[in-house]
Amino acid sequence: MNILIIGSGAREHAMAWAVLRNPKVSRIFVAPGNGGTALMGGKVSNVPVKATDVEALLDFASRESVDLTVVGPEQPLELGVVNRFREAGMRVVGPTSDAARLETSKVFAKDFMRRQDIPTAEYRVFRDHAEAKAYLESCPSFPQVIKASGLCAGKGVVVAMSREEALDAIHEFFENRVFGDAADEVVIEGFLQGQEASVFALTDGSRYRLFLPAQDHKRIGEGDTGKNTGGMGAYAPAPLVTPEVMQRVEELVIRPTLAGMAAEGYPYTGFLYVGLMIDAGEPSVVEFNARLGDPETQVVLPLLKSDFVDALLASVDGGLDRVPFEMHGGAGATVVMASKGYPDSSEIGMEIAIDPSVAAIDGVNVFHAGTKLEGSRLLTAGGRVLSVTACAGSLNEALGLAYRGIGGIRFDGAYFRRDIGAKAL
Ligand code: AMP
Ligand code: GLY
Repeated sequence: MNILIIGSGAREHAMAWAVLRNPKVSRIFVAPGNGGTALMGGKVSNVPVKATDVEALLDFASRESVDLTVVGPEQPLELGVVNRFREAGMRVVGPTSDAARLETSKVFAKDFMRRQDIPTAEYRVFRDHAEAKAYLESCPSFPQVIKASGLCAGKGVVVAMSREEALDAIHEFFENRVFGDAADEVVIEGFLQGQEASVFALTDGSRYRLFLPAQDHKRIGEGDTGKNTGGMGAYAPAPLVTPEVMQRVEELVIRPTLAGMAAEGYPYTGFLYVGLMIDAGEPSVVEFNARLGDPETQVVLPLLKSDFVDALLASVDGGLDRVPFEMHGGAGATVVMASKGYPDSSEIGMEIAIDPSVAAIDGVNVFHAGTKLEGSRLLTAGGRVLSVTACAGSLNEALGLAYRGIGGIRFDGAYFRRDIGAKAL
């Protein structure tokens, strides 16, 4: 069986690693992949096709007799990669472009949640600067959360602590057009109290299976300070999501979402990422994503004990409710090593040295993100560079192992948070 994974992050490296464990798999292609997937060798190879070049991806998949395609990031979903692969009779894991609007249009997602009575912050939608301004002028309380509706690589959200900050944000969105068309529509919503967690489901449109709940660390600085990033580390399971909370999430969010999307004519298939705020055991949806999270994938996949490929196939061909979907005991943690300057900019082209002792640490995996292989040299090629993951009997042990792994990796300007998982200990 040949598998194509679309994307180039540590999420896709972790997917390639998980897929490789199935002995029926003969070739794994990663388009475009990174230095880490290039170094896997053997059955795994990178394909020089961009994740957004849908027609070239389809050509490649047909030519190389790909049996199953897994979409990592959101941009190809928005571009309709799943629609195109399905029209061509190919097996693909992900939602259609209409269904992916749960992520690609925050206005769609909020209106959908209102229609389906799914708990989320109250909100208003604005298409005009003056109206948004008038609303903020009259808003009785802050913080308010200002969101560009379209895709902004995780940067289109401002938690405005004051009226002034909120007015600045809408000026940036509507006048300076910092996010271009993605901010033609803006959501202004109430601030949710509580703690965040992410829940991931794999679904065939009605049935679903759940991965372990995870917690991301979005801010660049220790103690959750400074700018938002793509994610600086994660751990799972998140103790905040007790079995009772998970049951509430299934009952109030996951089932109504799948039923509502099907009823409205856009059955939702693939991975559903539910970003939650949990306050006194009650979940509210902060956001939906139409894919697995990064860096959360780097912990939830190594914690999946059963076969990932069998579950993916069952989600496409049927039988998702019958396939094993078991988790390892213990816990997983991943710590992201980033380039100097991230998230504002990133210094790239630095040589990365990974001591051979790192690979020998039991339970540790180094998943690459912004890396590239140039001859035999491994170089930094992006903001988030590596995601060092460990699984062990307890979160404390997993964190110890992940940081031990980091101790054996060097590149100029390397930055990582030293407090990943500390909240859960
Ligand atoms: P999003 O891209 O919608 O997940 O927003 C990015 C981050 O902003 C989230 O992870 C939260 O930390 C924060 N955030 C978004 N919406 C809210 C809200 N309504 N209340 C509090 N924090 C929020
Ligand atoms: N970890 C956040 C995301 O993948 O969007």
